[in-house]
Amino acid sequence: MATTILVGAQWGDEGKGKIIDVLTAQADIVVRYQGGNNAGHTVWVGTDKFILHLVPSGILHPGKISVIGNGVVIDPCALVEEIEQLRVRGVAIKDNLLISETAHVVFPYHRLLDGIREQQKGKRKIGTTKRGIGPAYGDKASRTGLRMADLLAPERFTGKLRQKIRENNEIFKAFDAPPLSYTQIHRQYMECARKLRPFIADTVTWLNRAVNKGKNLLLEGAQGTMLDIDFGTYPFVTSSNSTAGGACTGTGIAPHRIDKVVGVMKAYTTRVGEGPFPTELHDGRGTLLRETGQEFGATTGRPRRCGWFDAVVTRYAVMVNGIDELAVTKLDVLDKLPKIKICVAYKVGHKVYETMPQDADILQRCKPMYEEFDGWRTSTRRARSFSQLPPQAQVYLSKLAELSGTKLGIVSVGAEREETFFL
Ligand code: IMP
Repeated sequence: MATTILVGAQWGDEGKGKIIDVLTAQADIVVRYQGGNNAGHTVWVGTDKFILHLVPSGILHPGKISVIGNGVVIDPCALVEEIEQLRVRGVAIKDNLLISETAHVVFPYHRLLDGIREQQKGKRKIGTTKRGIGPAYGDKASRTGLRMADLLAPERFTGKLRQKIRENNEIFKAFDAPPLSYTQIHRQYMECARKLRPFIADTVTWLNRAVNKGKNLLLEGAQGTMLDIDFGTYPFVTSSNSTAGGACTGTGIAPHRIDKVVGVMKAYTTRVGEGPFPTELHDGRGTLLRETGQEFGATTGRPRRCGWFDAVVTRYAVMVNGIDELAVTKLDVLDKLPKIKICVAYKVGHKVYETMPQDADILQRCKPMYEEFDGWRTSTRRARSFSQLPPQAQVYLSKLAELSGTKLGIVSVGAEREETFFL
């Protein structure tokens, strides 16, 4: 495996958790490189369902080391809770977890600001998870953020936190929101710091040493390409680089040391939150996809918007991430459909777009141009190789890969680890 990056090739929720879990069998170390507890990776181990928000899913594999990289923003209270819940369920967390000392910290004022900004935007809201992710990355870029290492230096932490709370309480006053209590937050964060201290480390040096030793690393992205702050449907995006470049800046591993990029995509498309989504289905077929695929947000429980596979999106994802291999998930969700469509290009008036228009206003007006395929109308869940799939499903998958411009590597036909095969 060497060093592999795994990215979402659509708008997030592509089933990355499941593919990461399967690939972890070949990895020594699994590293999360961006985002925060806005993400929700669902992993089924037998009949046990795990939803991980900050801890890499490598934690579910004994003997593997999980790392939360410097590019992640961490809500320490959410992380402590996640660790405690995993422990209650019998997952050992001791020397198998490392947390970057330079990852930025999410505070209650970030969450409050996230909510206020969304409210202020009214109809133009982004539909964020309200976990404070945007404001936390905002502080990082403004060079006023606090990092995990600050939690371990009580004096420095105290001064910086006091200043941040004073500054933010002024903002809250303007919105008639009650002020935050410095004392309460200080106490709560110091308690979390005590619990997280054993895991906080210089992960940049540690990871580079692991690469030098020839260890197999899996760098896992959260969200997806179309939610990337630079390459997504701005402003309807998250606040970090979820694409492959973010894996380098979010871990400290140099680009030339990356061996492979795997792009995960669903056999159809979903999106949560607001923003353009050209292939969205507003009719019964959208509802069928949502219900069959259980398309409800793992973090917020919101129903996901559902639509046909969009090859303009995945072609773009292959380009900006340098995807070498596709992992297609949830093929089984399409099992009952008599006809299935793939969007091959967009049209605005007479103009045809085969590549992604960068202007969100143009994208909003794009009409999908479809190719239609026969469905297979039989269950694919027992297939354990490409040749065991019904012929129509083979045609469909081959077309997804051809239109996306890269090769098929993994297919998932159900939620469980076993319901997966490699090509
Ligand atoms: P934020 O990341 O909470 O600021 O939300 C920004 C946008 O990204 C919203 O549309 C969210 O619904 C979306 N988003 C954030 N995290 C995820 C995820 O893990 N899966 C899918 N969408 C996400």
